[in-house]
Amino acid sequence: MQPGLFVSFEGIDGSGKSTQARALADHLRGRGHDVVLTREPGGSDGAEAIRRLLVEGDPDRWSPETEILLFNAARRDHVEKTIQPALARGAIVITDRFADSTRVYQGVARASLRPLVDQLHDLVIGLEPDLSFVIDMAADVALARGLARDSGEDRFEELGLGFQQALRAGFLDLARAAPERFCVIDGARASEVVARDVAARIEARLHG
Ligand code: ADP
Ligand code: TYD
Repeated sequence: MQPGLFVSFEGIDGSGKSTQARALADHLRGRGHDVVLTREPGGSDGAEAIRRLLVEGDPDRWSPETEILLFNAARRDHVEKTIQPALARGAIVITDRFADSTRVYQGVARASLRPLVDQLHDLVIGLEPDLSFVIDMAADVALARGLARDSGEDRFEELGLGFQQALRAGFLDLARAAPERFCVIDGARASEVVARDVAARIEARLHG
């Protein structure tokens, strides 16, 4: 058992995860909590180096199997160097994406690879968030928001609207299958409204 609290934000590209993860970190720090805000792929020096291999370049740069291995390599480093130490000292860890992204992105792109995703997770990660927010919204609106950022990290966004729609359905399926861990949030509202909704759910979890 971990003394801290492990929270993830999940959802399709451009849905507002980073915005909401930051807002929740600010909210909780304002209330005196020790908060570590982090992200995937990345969140530790080694994982950030692997991130560049994953988010830049041609959509078909890696085979699906290689891609799954790279995400797990990055995640293992992130867990060892950043997440576990923070949870062990009792911090609240907020991560912008975690293993559900691999289940959905790599599982949806190649559904036959979901067993490999699950086996690798059990073998080398074996950690789940205590609470996962799915920021849910229509894929076309999220895609326009994401591409408007012009971040140079659009390898997955470039797979198109149909892919983002399938991802949205994938996140909602995961949430339905594990309602005790997931909280689906309507991300189509103004960001302050979404943030208030998220903060209320966290407060209920911390004090409820
Ligand atoms: P994600 O991390 O899910 O890709 P971001 O938080 O980076 O999403 O948001 C994507 C873009 O949409 C950013 O330019 C951000 O400022 C904007 N954005 C985030 N939340 C909202 C919102 N609720 N309404 C309108 N625009 C938003
Ligand atoms: P991220 O920086 O969160 O992208 P965005 O801000 O656009 O949501 O993640 C980079 C990309 O990596 C994103 O398109 C989703 C993808 N990804 C996977 O395919 N599998 C994974 O396990 C993770 C963590 C991310």
